Amino acid sequence: MLIDNYPKIELVGAPTPIEYLPRLSDYAERDIYIKRDDLTPLGLGGNKLRKLEFLAAEALQEGADVLVTAGAVQSNHVRQTAAVAAKLGLKCMAILENPLQEASDNYLKNGNRLLLDLLGVNVQAAQIGQSLTEQLAAQAELLQAQGFRPYIIPVGGSNLLGSLGYIGCAQEIAHQVEDIPDLAAVVVASGSGGTHAGLSVGLEHYLPQVPLVGVTVSRDVAQQLPVVDTLRQSVAKALGVTLKQPLELWDDFYAPGYGYTNDSGNDALNLLAQLEGIFLDPVYTAKAMAGLLTGISTQRFAQDGPLLFIHTGGSPALFAYS
Ligand SMILES: Cc1ncc(COP(=O)(O)O)c(C=O)c1O
Repeated sequence: MLIDNYPKIELVGAPTPIEYLPRLSDYAERDIYIKRDDLTPLGLGGNKLRKLEFLAAEALQEGADVLVTAGAVQSNHVRQTAAVAAKLGLKCMAILENPLQEASDNYLKNGNRLLLDLLGVNVQAAQIGQSLTEQLAAQAELLQAQGFRPYIIPVGGSNLLGSLGYIGCAQEIAHQVEDIPDLAAVVVASGSGGTHAGLSVGLEHYLPQVPLVGVTVSRDVAQQLPVVDTLRQSVAKALGVTLKQPLELWDDFYAPGYGYTNDSGNDALNLLAQLEGIFLDPVYTAKAMAGLLTGISTQRFAQDGPLLFIHTGGSPALFAYS
């Protein structure tokens, strides 16, 4: 396997299921499958646990005693990082920003933010006007001066090591879709980029005939393409994979911006709940599903055939977005 040489701690366990969505498929007149990465086992699940298998392994190797990370107040990434810290007996420190400048109690205290308190996270508000990356470095220095051994997990867990988690996911998918002939595309939300980058390299290796579509949740294509491409090039180089497929990004579904809801996302969210009993999240997967459904109705997919949607999690944020 491509990533066997990288130290990893087991957090995900068995492959997450791929399920057929019969009622959504009837509605959309196209076969749609879903990869349930929302069901990864720890801290209410989601895509970040796959990245954290590699990031936390390095933290332990380096003798860290505190994981330091950052994200939005309703970050799923921070929640999952904190759950991993708890499981490994490490402390967790998080710098949280409020990209929506949202003042409602629900956004500031419910959903993922409530879970951070339950997980015992040391939370600090981000400084406005300074990058989260700089603030993470400053915080780690401060912790070091206090005698701690901090390990920085970048925003979204999206560096080379974190992206390796989605190489493993691509391998799982390749096995699981053996009995789904003519898969036409895989669709995933593209945010900080590690999930998209890892899947793109992994699918190129394990399932090269199947195109991958990333639906952006925070940037237009011109901004998101270099983010994902730089990361996937470095992953491909580290693993010796030759990239032949261009990156495909759709940016019609994230408006008005990161963390804001929109009508097409809300419609997709309601549809999946009411047709299949599956909850998406308002910030990432609802927008990605809106992309998939619109892609069907506008015949935007290059090939006919079944589609696979990657459910990357995030439903705890629903409680902050009522
Ligand atoms: C639920 C959910 N889906 C998708 C993503 C996007 O993943 P990435 O940041 O690796 O692009 C995130 C990131 O936080 C997420 O929380």
